[in-house]
Amino acid sequence: MYCIKKVTDDLVWVGANDRRLAFFEGVYSVPAGVSYNSYLLLDEKTVLFDTVDKAVRQRFLENIEKALKGRKLDYLVVQHVEPDHSAVILELIRQYPELKIVCGERGAKFIKQFYDFDIDSRVHPVKENETLNTGKHTLQFIMAPMIHWPEVMFTYDSADKILFSADAFGCFGALNGALFADEVDFAKDYMDEARRYYSNIVGKYGTQVASALDKTSALNIEMICPLHGFVWRTNLSEIVSKYMLWSKYEPEERGVMIAYASVYGNTENAAEILACRLRDKGIKTVIFDVSVTPASEIVSAAFKWSHLVFASTTYNAGIFVTMEALINDLSAHNIQNRRVAIIENGSWAPTSGGLIREILGKCKKIDILENNVSLLSGLKQAQLSDIESMAQAIGADFAAPAGVAQNNQAAPNTTEFIPIDPAVMFKLSYGLFVLTARDGNKDNGCIINTVMQITVTPVKITIGVNKANYTHDMILKTGKFNVSVLSEKAPFRVFQQFGFHSGKDTDKFADSGEALRAENGVRYVSEWTNGVICAEVKNTIDCGTHTLFIAEVKQAFSLSRDPSVTYQYYFDNIKPKPQPPKGNKKGFVCKICGYVHEGDTLPDDFICPLCKHGAADFEPI
Ligand code: FEO
Repeated sequence: MYCIKKVTDDLVWVGANDRRLAFFEGVYSVPAGVSYNSYLLLDEKTVLFDTVDKAVRQRFLENIEKALKGRKLDYLVVQHVEPDHSAVILELIRQYPELKIVCGERGAKFIKQFYDFDIDSRVHPVKENETLNTGKHTLQFIMAPMIHWPEVMFTYDSADKILFSADAFGCFGALNGALFADEVDFAKDYMDEARRYYSNIVGKYGTQVASALDKTSALNIEMICPLHGFVWRTNLSEIVSKYMLWSKYEPEERGVMIAYASVYGNTENAAEILACRLRDKGIKTVIFDVSVTPASEIVSAAFKWSHLVFASTTYNAGIFVTMEALINDLSAHNIQNRRVAIIENGSWAPTSGGLIREILGKCKKIDILENNVSLLSGLKQAQLSDIESMAQAIGADFAAPAGVAQNNQAAPNTTEFIPIDPAVMFKLSYGLFVLTARDGNKDNGCIINTVMQITVTPVKITIGVNKANYTHDMILKTGKFNVSVLSEKAPFRVFQQFGFHSGKDTDKFADSGEALRAENGVRYVSEWTNGVICAEVKNTIDCGTHTLFIAEVKQAFSLSRDPSVTYQYYFDNIKPKPQPPKGNKKGFVCKICGYVHEGDTLPDDFICPLCKHGAADFEPI
């Protein structure tokens, strides 16, 4: 029985999942299965984007037949000839004899190598940026060599702003009934698998991935349809930003990945002690036993963490077998731009450290610590200092740069971990804005200080909004908002009106007179402001307490020539200065609005009567 899913009004997912496959490409374990995605565009012409692996051909053919609803199949776009995406071409040709195959020159060559049929008579060859009109849709072909084979190409549908991305942005794991990344907790449940897929499948080709990202950055993309894993229709930057890091071999996390190979537990013991000393310094650590954890997971972790430690016993006068395989694997996947430390062990002739150094030393930008720790069978008391020295050397990378003083004090010992000084955050420049939204008949607004233009074509901005704000929820629900840019003329009462209480229980526009609305129907503030930006949300990024909205600007107009207010100007000139308590009385001042509470103590549950912030936002006068 068919099993298809709607992607857009014109696009249907006709792929299938395989949960019986033990090893993808015969190498990579896929305990959660894998999806083979294929998409059918139903326009005046019908267009299929790639086929699937032979393991799921039956379901795939049923899916196409159902989705076509009796229509013929006009085009098959072959973006990638690897058989997990091309295995069903012959059956399709038999079933749809008029089918044209759209691919690049190299794609046609590879199809000839894999399959016996007369492709020349049915190929529709395309070159870089060539287009194919199918009625309402125009498809643009973008060559993306080496992601993951040389013939790979992407396709961009300019009508629905969809990028069909072949293997790029793919992920291991069956879809389990979902299709879109926003239907699952991708960061928690799938990002590790997306990284494992990337690092092992295309990790070697970072330069080519960066070049493809560069090419597609000029396109207005609202959806990404990869050949494995989930479709991205919101928050595209969640996966694109990871690809930008991975393609440049930039670590995602500052911390230390320790991989060890240990026959009787002595090398493991050294690795564990090193991890403890690093943790003592506040440095994150992860540890893998290379004889237990599949190499693909450790390769993936090596792409994630900034520092790598390899601890291996010596075996047959070489590196222990599983560690040797891992080191060669990392080298083959072009690992680079990492700090590395090595612990070796050997009962009569420890050689593994030197051999690991030799292999990794040939990789680009791999900085290997000079002092290996070399063990003879087991770690002894006298060698604990070697482990501590290694932890110190690694820890030095995690300290603040020498000479950077905290709070105008002398530079601290650089081997100590230095926490974030919140005062530095106030050195950043910010503006102040009234952010407004409308949900049904409810208008609301709040004050925000983070609005930034991020692209010109199209004009996109990003805003950061605290999740506690009612306006935040309204924007999340409606996808629309206006930003009214406050000028230096704005009086304190504007900040009180929009900033010091919640729209959940008050009407912030109650005393605002005529309701001025932009074309999106959302109110804006015309008094004390110098411009209005109206935008539509395209992506969101969950930042914990705040959400970052990335939005396309749909309308923008000026209201005055008054200079925009900055956060600093607000504090210096608009916000009332706290008045010291009279006489010898003591008091506490609200850092948010300047309200002064007189008294020797401030109750823990005190709420500012003006701005409703709690006791934590007060400081003694
Ligand atoms: Fe999913 Fe490179 O094939």
